[in-house]
Amino acid sequence: MSTLHSTGGIWQGKRVVLGVSGSIAAYKSAWLVRLLVKNGAEVRVVLTPSALDFVTPLTLATLSNHAVYSEFTESKDAGTWTNHVELGLWGDLFLIAPATANTLAAMASGGCDNFLLAVYLSARCAVAVAPAMDLDMYAHASTQENLAVLAKRGVKVIDAEEGELASGLSGKGRMAEPEHIIDQLTHGLLEQAPLYGKRALVTAGPTHEPIDPVRFIGNHSSGKMGFAIAEQLASLGAAVELITGPVALSTAHPRIRTTRVQTAQEMHDACMMHSDECDIVVMSAAVADYRPSIRAAQKIKKAAADMNIQLEATTDILAALGSRKPHKQVLVGFALETDNEHENAQAKLVRKNLDLIVLNSLRDAGAGFGHDSNKVTFIDRHNKISTFELKSKSEVAADLADKIIDLCNSEAQS
Ligand code: CTP
Repeated sequence: MSTLHSTGGIWQGKRVVLGVSGSIAAYKSAWLVRLLVKNGAEVRVVLTPSALDFVTPLTLATLSNHAVYSEFTESKDAGTWTNHVELGLWGDLFLIAPATANTLAAMASGGCDNFLLAVYLSARCAVAVAPAMDLDMYAHASTQENLAVLAKRGVKVIDAEEGELASGLSGKGRMAEPEHIIDQLTHGLLEQAPLYGKRALVTAGPTHEPIDPVRFIGNHSSGKMGFAIAEQLASLGAAVELITGPVALSTAHPRIRTTRVQTAQEMHDACMMHSDECDIVVMSAAVADYRPSIRAAQKIKKAAADMNIQLEATTDILAALGSRKPHKQVLVGFALETDNEHENAQAKLVRKNLDLIVLNSLRDAGAGFGHDSNKVTFIDRHNKISTFELKSKSEVAADLADKIIDLCNSEAQS
C-alpha cells in the first residue's frame, strides 16, 4: 500500500464521489474506496445499474461507511427521490472508475439515463475518469474522440494501462491500478494546493540548556503548536523542515523533515542551514533566552547552602533570521507578553524585521504551554490586527496558514 505514504495528507477531509460503471474492473473499486478512506477522504459511491452485476453495494457501502447510490428513487413506495444535484455539489472530486465505453459516450454526449450520469451533469467539482474496456474498444475512434471531448471540457483522463484483459487478450484497456489512480490524482491535487512549491521552516518546542551532564534549564513548551503548524503547512502543499527541541511528539507526514536539537545554539545552527532557501519561516519554539555560561563536565555536587549559576544570553535566532531575511520570505515570530501586550508585540515585530507576530495569551484558561488549545492575536507589519477566540491548536494553525498564504500572495505581487 505504498500510496498511503506518499499522498502527504492532501486527501484529508476531501469529499470524493466515486462513480462505478459496469466493467469487470469494478472489483478494483473496492480497493480504490479503501485507499481513499485510508488517506482521509470521505467517499460516496454511485453505481450504474450494470455495475451492480459486477460488485455488491454491501461491499462498497461497508468500505465507504455510507449507503451507496444507484437509483433515482430512494423508496419507490414512499415516492422519494435521491438528490443527484446535492451529491454533485457535495463532492470535491467526482472520479468515475471504472468508466466504460458506454458511460464515456454518454458523458460526452450529455446522456442522462442513470443516476451516475445525472450526478455528472450536476457536478461542479473536478471530474476524473479511469477508462476500462477491451483493447479494440479502447482504441476505437469513437472512444478516443469521446475521451478527447471530455478532456477538452476539463475532465482528467487517467489513461488505461497495458496488460492482460478480461477477454483473454493482452493490450491497452485495463483500468489503471488503484494506487496509480491515487498517485495521479494526488499529483493533480498537490499542484492545486496553495503552498505547493513553497519551502517552509518551522521550529517547535523548548530548548534545554545544560548545567551539567544531568541538569538543564528548560521550559514547559510541549511543541504542540509548532507541530500543528508544520502539519498544516505540509497539508497545504509546502515542503517543511521542522526543527524541534526536546518534545514527546513526532510526525509521520511525508512532506515534513524533522531535525531534533537540544540547545538554542543547535536550533540556531539548524535554522541557519535551511532558512535562506525557505519561502516561509515560523519561529514558534520557546527558545531559552539565557544559558549557563559554563557547562560543568561532571555532575555538580551538593556543597554549600546556596548556589549561583552564571548565565549568558543565547543568540536571538528570530532576530538573526530577520536581519538576513531574503526578499519575499515571510517571517513569522511568536510573542508571549503579560503587559502592554500589543505595543510590546508590535515593537518586537519591528525590532526583529518580521512580517507577522503571533501574540499568545497566558491570561486565558486553556491557552498556551502544554494545552491543546490556544488564544492568539495576529499583528502584521502594516499593524493589521486579527484577534481570535480560544481554539484548538490545529485550528490556530489553520488560521495562521491562511494568513501566511495571504502574506505569500502579497509578497509575490510586491
Ligand atoms: N526567539 C528566538 N531566539 C531566542 C529567543 C526567542 O528565536 N533566543 C524567538 C521565539 O521563537 C519567538 C520570539 O523570538 O518567536 C519571541 O520570543 P520572546 O522570548 O517572547 O521575546 P524576546 O524577543 O526574547 O523578548 P522578551 O523576552 O524580552 O519578551
